[in-house]
Amino acid sequence: MRDHLLAIRDRILLSTRFQRLAAAFPLTRPIANAQAQKAFDLCAGFVYSQITLACVRLGVLDAVRDGVLSIDVLAARAGLPLARARVLVNAAAAIGLLSLRSRDRIGLGMKGAAIVANPAISALIEHHALLYDDLSDPVAVLRGREDSGRIRRFWPYAAGGARGAEETQEIKAYCELMGHSQELISNDIIAAVSFAGFGRVLDIGGGDGTFLAALARSSSSFSGCLFDLPAVADRAGRNFEAAGLSDRCEVVGGDFLVDQMPSGFDAATLVRVLHDHDDGDAARLLSSVCRGLQPGGTVIIAEPMSGMAGTATVADAYFGFYLMAMGSGRPRRPDEISSLLIAAGFRDVRIVRTRRPLLVCIVIAQSPK
Ligand SMILES: C[S@@+](CC[C@H](N)C(=O)[O-])C[C@H]1O[C@@H](n2cnc3c(N)ncnc32)[C@H](O)[C@@H]1O
Repeated sequence: MRDHLLAIRDRILLSTRFQRLAAAFPLTRPIANAQAQKAFDLCAGFVYSQITLACVRLGVLDAVRDGVLSIDVLAARAGLPLARARVLVNAAAAIGLLSLRSRDRIGLGMKGAAIVANPAISALIEHHALLYDDLSDPVAVLRGREDSGRIRRFWPYAAGGARGAEETQEIKAYCELMGHSQELISNDIIAAVSFAGFGRVLDIGGGDGTFLAALARSSSSFSGCLFDLPAVADRAGRNFEAAGLSDRCEVVGGDFLVDQMPSGFDAATLVRVLHDHDDGDAARLLSSVCRGLQPGGTVIIAEPMSGMAGTATVADAYFGFYLMAMGSGRPRRPDEISSLLIAAGFRDVRIVRTRRPLLVCIVIAQSPK
């Protein structure tokens, strides 16, 4: 029935007569204009992204962070001729990064303020230069490009690399990128899940340790272990030491697809880990987690998920293409994660609500008693 109604709708929308009428009739004109604006935004999205990148690279948003500036001062700060600075400022104001104030002065816009307040967003905007380079030929990515793209090289573990003990430039770069956003994610997970009942927690693929450190800071009785590739685990170990947490947060290095992980924990967390892996590897990883937990232990999977209210643009559009360019993994719906968990031996699977599903969704399950 729904398909039939949608087919009728499509035929109406495609009619040029209907389009002319909708634009002319006062009651439908706002809808027609809003749809036209959305279609234009789809076409112009790349230009908006590049305006944003220029603002971040030239320090334009940071320059007006503490108050308004005149256009000539801003042009000098950005190292641009006045006329070009005006083009940038008008463009950035049009998309909400800056706002034009009285007497030719410029201040922050709503979106610009969000970027300045979250260094994670600026780091992501810079990182996207690699992604957009790969996606300059989306058809080649869809067809499975032969050469290794820049995103694939950024995440060496996706192609089976980064297993050595030495911290390479690539490992440093991806740990720093993840580290920027891990705090935001950690806060949302800790707000959604009660960790009070878990004696010891294993954070698998824990990166630089921001999440485990946040758990340790939230309760003085908490202790845990971070498991990640050897060079990453060492990095986390140094961070725990610097934060005075190494007595409660230990690290173990290894490959979770090959090596045995430490066992006997009450809970295991996989934060932004599962979606990096194809179904076969994800299934092997979850089986190994299930075997290693205490009987009745809890696994917590936290990452952006498809099929949840309001997550389609992030999960299906953004991560769908990002992970495809990376050459490994895919965004999954909670029911797909649930099937993987049950096949791995888990039971009592449930979804836990988070305050920002756009950033992170959570699925929890228990190992057999
Ligand atoms: C996308 S990052 C997420 C890091 C962290 N949990 C976060 O949310 O910021 C994925 C992590 O999984 C680790 N990882 C990937 N493959 C791995 C493997 N085979 N064995 C152990 N760790 C692995 C990476 O080193 C990286 O730290």
